Amino acid sequence: MILGIDKSIFRRLLFSYMLTILLGLCAVGILMSFLTKDYIVETQTQELLRKAKRVNLTIQNVREMNDSVKDLLVFLDQSFDTRIWVFDRSGQIVATSSKDEVYVGKSVDASVAQRMIKGEEAVLNLQFEGMKDTMLSVVVPWGKEKDVYGGIVLHAPVVGMNQTIAHLRETILWVTLFGIVMSVAIASLLSWSISRPLRQIEKVATRIGLGDYSERIDVKAKDEIGELAGTINRMVEQLEKIDREKRKLEQIRIDFLGNVSHELRTPLTAMQGFLEALQDGLIVDQARPKYYDIIYKETLHMSRLVDDIMDLVKLENNAIELERRPVEIEPLLKQCMYRFTPEAAEKGTALALEVHPATPLVFADPDRLQQIVNNLVKNALKFTDHGTIRLAAAPKENGISIVVSDTGTGISPEDQELIWERFFKADRGRSKTKGTGLGLAIVRELVSLHEGKITVASEVGKGTAFEVWLPQAS
Ligand SMILES: Nc1ncnc2c1ncn2[C@@H]1O[C@H](COP(=O)(O)OP(=O)(O)OP(=O)(O)O)[C@@H](O)[C@H]1O
Ligand SMILES: [Mg+2]
Repeated sequence: MILGIDKSIFRRLLFSYMLTILLGLCAVGILMSFLTKDYIVETQTQELLRKAKRVNLTIQNVREMNDSVKDLLVFLDQSFDTRIWVFDRSGQIVATSSKDEVYVGKSVDASVAQRMIKGEEAVLNLQFEGMKDTMLSVVVPWGKEKDVYGGIVLHAPVVGMNQTIAHLRETILWVTLFGIVMSVAIASLLSWSISRPLRQIEKVATRIGLGDYSERIDVKAKDEIGELAGTINRMVEQLEKIDREKRKLEQIRIDFLGNVSHELRTPLTAMQGFLEALQDGLIVDQARPKYYDIIYKETLHMSRLVDDIMDLVKLENNAIELERRPVEIEPLLKQCMYRFTPEAAEKGTALALEVHPATPLVFADPDRLQQIVNNLVKNALKFTDHGTIRLAAAPKENGISIVVSDTGTGISPEDQELIWERFFKADRGRSKTKGTGLGLAIVRELVSLHEGKITVASEVGKGTAFEVWLPQAS
């Protein structure tokens, strides 16, 4: 296809160049041959007139033609290389410079004779048979200024005119040939300079068609083709970005499915094993309650996992509607404390609550706010042994800040960026901490649904503090 563009551009350029050069040179050639012809005729006419006047000077005192005058005419004919005729006032030719006197006794045109009597000069077009060259004839009065006896005709072939014009035509032919060669060269260069970027554009466009966005067009020209290349490059960049995002989303979806299946598979496998053992009577009666308890806990874990997944999916699809209203934060935090007190006592961890007296009402959905705080406290408890967990609330920038801090394991700086991802767990290998890694992903979605912000500050071995900022009720 590109060969087609290439060829047609090449042909069109070549054709137009050649046509321009040919037309231009033809015009110049025709003009030049006319001008040259005129110039040559003009200079030779002047020369002939000058000679004619000299002939007149020689014979202006002679009224009658005699042999000596005729000899003089022959001499002048030879020295000037022109034919000379002399005619009288009536126009009758009385003498010629040629030996054969065919014209003697004949007459020149009466009007020419009349003009001579008036003292004028004339240039005539006289045709002679059997002569190749164009003949040029001039007539001047014969005699003195007031005393004209007749006229003197001088005629001579126009020398050099044909050769000069032929020479000119030859030159023009060569120049034309040179012009055509040049035009082929220029057209090739131009067509190459146009077709090269076009070929590149075509190459990249083909790749885009195949879904490969890695290539760019390397065209530096500032012309329309350069602009086109720039536009295509920008388009490819855009497509590449969209493609990258699409792949990322696809990867997230695949990861999510993989994670969900894995998280469901693990408790299911355990339950299957225990149930089979119970069925086969491999477990003694006294030990049975322990196994039922394990199975029960696994089902609890599974249903929590399914709830979390459903929550997350709804949050990401914007399918959760908040029922926001002014909420007092202190009772909410207190309730959370009571709920986790037994668990904390088991781990030897103290719970503390600090609410600033000026803390305003927060504009939130109370159930969802409880979910946020519960998740954070649950995490703090999970990662803190024999430490302290503080729950604090205070006014901050047109809203309130809720801080859940602990003196637990802490989170490494690299992990601090990843904890928000679904299914991320820092200690994935260890079974010590139960959990699926969905808690913080849900918390982040819920906070952003409240138009709030959540940040984490943590130091490994020292503890972690999550701060949630939410807008106050106006
Ligand atoms: N207070 C904390 N102290 C130390 N590490 C924490 C704390 N909170 C969260 N993390 C780290 O962040 C990870 C993600 O937390 P997230 O709440 O999302 O998942 P999870 O608690 O492991 O599981 P789930 O909440 O779904 O039961 C945790 O696995 C843990 O590594
Ligand atoms: Mg959690």
